[in-house]
Amino acid sequence: MADNKPIQPPTGTRDLYPIEAARRRFITEAWRRASINHGFEEVDGPTFESTELYTKKSGDGIVSEIFGVFSGKDEQGVKALGEKLARGEDAPAPYALRPEFTPTLARMYAARAASLPKPTKWFTAGPFFRAERPQRGRLREFLQWNCDVIGLALPEKPTPEDIARATAQADAEVIACCVGLLEQCGLKSENVKVRISDRNLIASMLQAQSVSADKLTPALMLLDRRKKSDPVEFAATFAERVGDIAHFDQYCKTCEKLIAGGLSELGSGGSDQPDVRFNFKPLHRLWNELKSLGIADWCVVDLSIARGLAYYTGMVFEVIVDGERAVAGGGRYDNLIVLFGGPSTPAVGFGMGDVVLSLVLQDKGLMPEGAELMQIAGQSPDVFVISNGTPEADAALPSVLADLRRGSREQRGRDSLHARRTSKTTKNVGKILQEAEKSGAHFAAIVESASEVTLKNLRTREQDPSKTPIASLKSEVLKRLGRG
Ligand code: HAM
Repeated sequence: MADNKPIQPPTGTRDLYPIEAARRRFITEAWRRASINHGFEEVDGPTFESTELYTKKSGDGIVSEIFGVFSGKDEQGVKALGEKLARGEDAPAPYALRPEFTPTLARMYAARAASLPKPTKWFTAGPFFRAERPQRGRLREFLQWNCDVIGLALPEKPTPEDIARATAQADAEVIACCVGLLEQCGLKSENVKVRISDRNLIASMLQAQSVSADKLTPALMLLDRRKKSDPVEFAATFAERVGDIAHFDQYCKTCEKLIAGGLSELGSGGSDQPDVRFNFKPLHRLWNELKSLGIADWCVVDLSIARGLAYYTGMVFEVIVDGERAVAGGGRYDNLIVLFGGPSTPAVGFGMGDVVLSLVLQDKGLMPEGAELMQIAGQSPDVFVISNGTPEADAALPSVLADLRRGSREQRGRDSLHARRTSKTTKNVGKILQEAEKSGAHFAAIVESASEVTLKNLRTREQDPSKTPIASLKSEVLKRLGRG
């Protein structure tokens, strides 16, 4: 007997029906626009990579969430792995579905570093995979948009001041692109904040509490998980591995106040003064850049942000909407390109997922719907072709439709129109016009005879007083759409 039990999609994945696919298109189009308008060029890499790309460079958090990939053709390899696993040994699969883009980007940059401009600005958007426990805002397959600035624009013999300035400018540039996207989606600085921190500053505060250099990364990872932990348990673990969390928090608060206040109090010697060895300058410089770009009201300094990835070396940030998981996260990673055999090249960037962003946009009523969504997603028809119901018009309709859809090589297909007809059997022109409007079509072309149509602009509801010859319908519509 046939087994007709439906096979469900894997946990943490999504089946996208047209409306959901259109919502996703809305987001990916907004990502594209924001990155291109901020001067980033599109790149991409493989969706699966050698597992060691991540085990060597990303840090334990992400590695524990890797989906392993085997080639079914590598029978020997798969057998050997099976044997290792049976013996209880650690046996990662040879390949991994990509959990993030940054290691791929570092490899790609390192391979062509000599011929790439400084800075190189790259963006990509595509599917990523993490074997996380699915929950609100986190799935096992999601889209992630990445924008990264690799290298700095510097004079031939740069001074430390030149480097510091260019670094702050690159940091501000990626934050500006991220804010540009949020703004373009209709979010407001009151609801969304870019929470900015600096790992060097946190590390110097930890060192002031006598945390040795080898314990800095584990301490940062611990701080990254703080919000997800029970406060009492966290304080106990922190005390055991690092030091007094209350003392650390006090440092953070004073630093945040000083940075927001412009550092003028620094060195005035009050009792709550943090140690002057702490280097606030990079954050302060960044803050001034953000102000000059007019986006400081979207940003706050929040030294509780540490970020879970091992490769960050300086400024880090997360984009947070109250009550939700991070919409985006990123930071500076100045040592990664070298790790991939490239020249020492500072870099900064961020990744934004589609899952939390669409939840937030839907919750706030900012996700377009119906005809508007279809239009933004590039799926509303240019022309809805309707027969006036006579046998002559019925017979002419298929070729009118075909001609509107045809695109030429000379025009690279730009002269091809999105043309549709009803699939219903009704001959009632009024009803079909309603259907056309609902589809978001720009124009309706009512075929009146074998040679003429009546054109109606469905957006302005204006109907042409005279008929248009079928022979010139396409050029007329292209002209009115501004594509002629
Ligand atoms: P990340 O913080 O691991 O950073 O991820 C960035 C964003 O991707 C998150 O804020 C979230 O929106 C989305 N994301 C991550 N995991 C999931 C998931 N399981 N489900 C849904 N969305 C998710 C990175 O990946 C860095 N490589 C970003 C970067 C680029 N840093 C520098 N350049």
